[in-house]
Amino acid sequence: MKNMKEQKKNNSKSNKMPMSEKKTTKTASATKAKTAATVKTKTLSNAAVTKLYKDYLIPGVITYYKDPLPIVSGKGCALFDAEGREYLDFFGGILTVSVGHCNDYITNRFIDQAKRLQHASTLYPTIPAARLAEKLAEITPGNLKRSFFTNSGTEADETAIMMAQHHTGAQEIIALRHCYSGRSAMAMNLTAHSSWRISKTLLPGIKHAHAPYCYRCPFKLKYPSCDIACATDLEELIKTETSGRIAAFIAEPILGVGGFIVPPKEYFKVAVDIVRRNGGVFIADEVQTAWGRTGKHWFGIEHFGVVPEIISSAKGMANGIPIGWTITNSEIADNLKGLTISTFGGNPVSCEAAHATIDFIGKENLLDHTHKVGNHLRKSLEELQGEFPVIGDVRGMGLMVGVELVTDKKSKVPNPEAVLKIFEETKKDGLLIGKGGLYGNVLRISPPMTITKDQIDHALKVLKKAFKKL
Ligand SMILES: Cc1ncc(COP(=O)(O)O)c(C=O)c1O
Repeated sequence: MKNMKEQKKNNSKSNKMPMSEKKTTKTASATKAKTAATVKTKTLSNAAVTKLYKDYLIPGVITYYKDPLPIVSGKGCALFDAEGREYLDFFGGILTVSVGHCNDYITNRFIDQAKRLQHASTLYPTIPAARLAEKLAEITPGNLKRSFFTNSGTEADETAIMMAQHHTGAQEIIALRHCYSGRSAMAMNLTAHSSWRISKTLLPGIKHAHAPYCYRCPFKLKYPSCDIACATDLEELIKTETSGRIAAFIAEPILGVGGFIVPPKEYFKVAVDIVRRNGGVFIADEVQTAWGRTGKHWFGIEHFGVVPEIISSAKGMANGIPIGWTITNSEIADNLKGLTISTFGGNPVSCEAAHATIDFIGKENLLDHTHKVGNHLRKSLEELQGEFPVIGDVRGMGLMVGVELVTDKKSKVPNPEAVLKIFEETKKDGLLIGKGGLYGNVLRISPPMTITKDQIDHALKVLKKAFKKL
């Protein structure tokens, strides 16, 4: 009875479809080959998709651009909107699409898996989860070996904190200003961006250290004569702001949402030494920086010569298929007493997609490629910095490059308006980029790692044209 009523309601809803959709449904019934649902999704206009999005999602779900840009398909580094217009994707689904949209190698592997087994839960060991965990132990630095799978970066960070607290018996956590950790209560409290803390900061025991943000040094010093004051300050922070015994220091090797802030090369050695002397462990939040994104290495922290006790990651791990992951050493893993389960964690399809992504990066030698083309991208942007007064800073590693915009180079006043203008101009020319930074004044450039030098050069031309128009 209820189903019939619902069906009726749906039918009457479809009678009120906009003209563009009605036409489509006609075509669909003519071809008969496709289901109405598929055809409807494929042929909604940009405006129709945007309207549904606005009407039925909560307003907290923000979208880029004055006229939001619905995306219906993607291949390689290209995305296509609902009207078939093509865009070159230089944000990679916020660094999730590591090796190109709908990558055939990965898609085939997870489709094969989806035909075999889609879910059984961690109550039953599955081959994809077991094999992936083995592979991860092989590619992570030091003695990191024992994995826990979840569904998002937020959960990966939550797990990391829980592991550190159980292991040390301490509770307090040090995070970095300008960091982002996710959207659970704990993660929002760790996150040091007021705009992303919609539930306020209500959890005690989290203290924020100054960020290693050389362009806007919190101590107004200059590298290297600063003696890495942002790192040495941790000693005083722990002695004055905590009980003196901390559980962990959690930090992104490059602050992603913060605007791709790259710490000085000595930073982590100095900071982590202080943390360990005060009883804490080091959690590298590699949600953005892992999987070769920073070039040369699998993990961002490997550039800094420090082995963390715990690594958390998500985003680019399975090329866009949802997965979260935390790894630690056996000692910490064994100290995690009690039960814990993530029902979908270790899902065989996600695990197979992640394993395939790692295999693809390895077999295509993308760690080297990312290093090489990333250097080219950064150097070319540095040249633009010389040309345009609005570009205050260019920084990054591999294919994770930030461009901080200011009103002028001397005052360094953040210029988020210029970012919005660059966004609209580049969109007109078919280029999609990201933004970030506390003030929304940093362009974030992070294409899939399969990007070619020619595609980078094309994007640079589009960016230059947009800067000229400012
Ligand atoms: C560094 C970092 N940690 C954690 C998260 C949270 O990940 P998710 O959005 O998958 O929960 C993010 C997301 O942007 C992130 O950038």
